[in-house]
Order: sequence, then structure tokens, then C-alpha cells
Amino acid sequence: MKRDFLTLRDLSRVELEEIFSLAQQLKADWKEGRPHPLLRGRVLAMIFEKPSLRTHVTFEVGMFQLGGHAVYLTPSDIQLGKRETVADAARNLDRWVDAIMARVYDHRTLEELARCAEVPVVNGLSDRFHPCQVLSDCFTLIERGCNLPELRIAFVGDGNNMAHSWINAAARFGFQLVVASPRGYEPDAEVVAEARKEGARVSIGHDPAEAANDADVIYTDTWTSMGQEAEAEERRRAFRDYQVNAELLRLAKPTAVVMHCLPAHRGEEITDEVIDGPQSIVFDQAENRLHVQKAILVWLVQHNLHRRAHC
Ligand code: CP
Ligand code: NVA
Repeated sequence: MKRDFLTLRDLSRVELEEIFSLAQQLKADWKEGRPHPLLRGRVLAMIFEKPSLRTHVTFEVGMFQLGGHAVYLTPSDIQLGKRETVADAARNLDRWVDAIMARVYDHRTLEELARCAEVPVVNGLSDRFHPCQVLSDCFTLIERGCNLPELRIAFVGDGNNMAHSWINAAARFGFQLVVASPRGYEPDAEVVAEARKEGARVSIGHDPAEAANDADVIYTDTWTSMGQEAEAEERRRAFRDYQVNAELLRLAKPTAVVMHCLPAHRGEEITDEVIDGPQSIVFDQAENRLHVQKAILVWLVQHNLHRRAHC
């Protein structure tokens, strides 16, 4: 039966670790000039309802490096759910392509695509989750020699799609996650409850200093996510005290790293000094999107040997 990657909960810890091993091997191969056309002749459809730099480029370059091809579909091309139903779009695409990656507003669009397509569907970001980013970020930490279960990770900012995927990752990998968000902007209680049921060590608070204290990682993201532009002013006021700056970073361990999924809004959620400073690993994170997503695609396409219709 085909597998999808809509959230980190779709794969077990062992399966995610298989993806890490494959990503490590693919990255080393690529750096040493060893080609690996594992998806030769395969095609990925990429659906974007929102803008993107990293996700678009890394999936497209990734398919190229794997010997396959990627087809980019803009919002105006496909108009999911408007020009035709999500189900019909899925049932067309799976006749032509071997996997679908979609960046959507409503997470239920991804669930519908996955339910109706006989090929694997990958979440390239929804309003609710961004699993490819967080899996790449965990890989980046492992690559630096971190043992994930030993880490204390502070997430400072909005309880958004990134926070939700970090909460899922806490359930899968066992690290301690301390979230600090303004009141009214906390992560969704259901996401937290599900993760805690699976043993996640997650605390949700409102004090960035308390979260940053003794942290191994300080993670932040934009205060205003794609689709929330009308709230930008109000959010700037609400998040004013949630900036990752040198003062906050001093509270973390001296060896701590600073992470951001990007794009960054310099001077808002993070200062130039910190994002350009020696503890920032934001561009390593961006680089690893390529290698980890290649591994995700190879893993999913190779597991899709026994296709089965769901509609
Ligand atoms: N981090 C991330 O997903 O970046 P893009 O929005 O540019 O794809
Ligand atoms: N939370 C951000 C992440 C961007 C990669 C957004 O959804 O816009």
C-alpha cells in the first residue's frame, strides 16, 4: 500500500531514521560526484497554492539529481477545488506522475489528495504542518553530532505550522521541546495532546527567556505566516517581546545553535546580529532540505510497489 508524508506522524521513528540514513548517503554521494539516478524516468508533480523559494527549488533540483523530472504547477494552472475538485485533480495526476508534492492552505486539501491519488503525496507546507522542514532540521542537528533525545529545543514565536511539526517531532525523537508564544498564539491544543499521548516532552508557555534558558537550540519563524498578511500589524505588536536577539541567545547554552526555517524577517523575529552570527545554522538547514527530501521521495516511491485505489 502506498505511503504519504503529510505529517511526521505518518512514519514511524524507525522509518524516519531510514530516511536519515538514506539522506546521509545521498548527500555524501552527491558531494563526492557519485551519481544516483534512483528515480530515473520518474516524475514529481509540484502543486503550489503559496509562494516558495526553498521548497520549490529543492524538490525540483532533487528530482533532477535523482534522474527524474519535476513539473511545477502554479495556483493559476490548477486552482485546486475551484477549476475541478481536489479528488479529480488527484485522479488525473496519478495517471501521469509517480508522486505529488503540494503546498496548500488547508491541510484537508492534502488529506483529500492523498486519499484519492494512488501515488504518494508529500506535504510541502500546509497551514497546519511543515514536516519536510522539521525532518531536514532534525537531520541537520544529527549531522552536527547531536543526540536528539538529549536536546532541549526552545521554539520562540507563533504556535504555527512549524511549531506543530516540532511538536510531532518531539513525539518521534524524544527531545524536550519548550514553546514560548504570546497568549492567543499558542500551538493547537489537539496537536499538543496527541504528541503528549505518544510520550512527547512538550511544554507550552509564554516566556521566551524561560524557553531559551539552558537551551541547545533556539528556533524561530516568522510572526506572520503566508495567508495571514492582513494581521501583520496586530501580530507585530503581539510578538514584540518574542524576538530572538543576542540578549535572548545569551541565556542558552554557550554551544547553542540558532535555527530558522526561512524566509526570515530580519529585525522582527530575529536580529541581523543573530542570524548572521556564529551560532546560526540557517543555511545548513536550507541546504539539507535538498538531501532529506530526495531521501523522502526515494523512500516513498520505492514503497509504492503495490498501488491500490482509495476512491
Ligand atoms: N522554509 C521554506 O519552506 O521556505 P520556502 O517557503 O521558500 O519554500
Ligand atoms: N510559518 C511560515 C513558514 C514558512 C516556511 C509560513 O507558513 O509562512
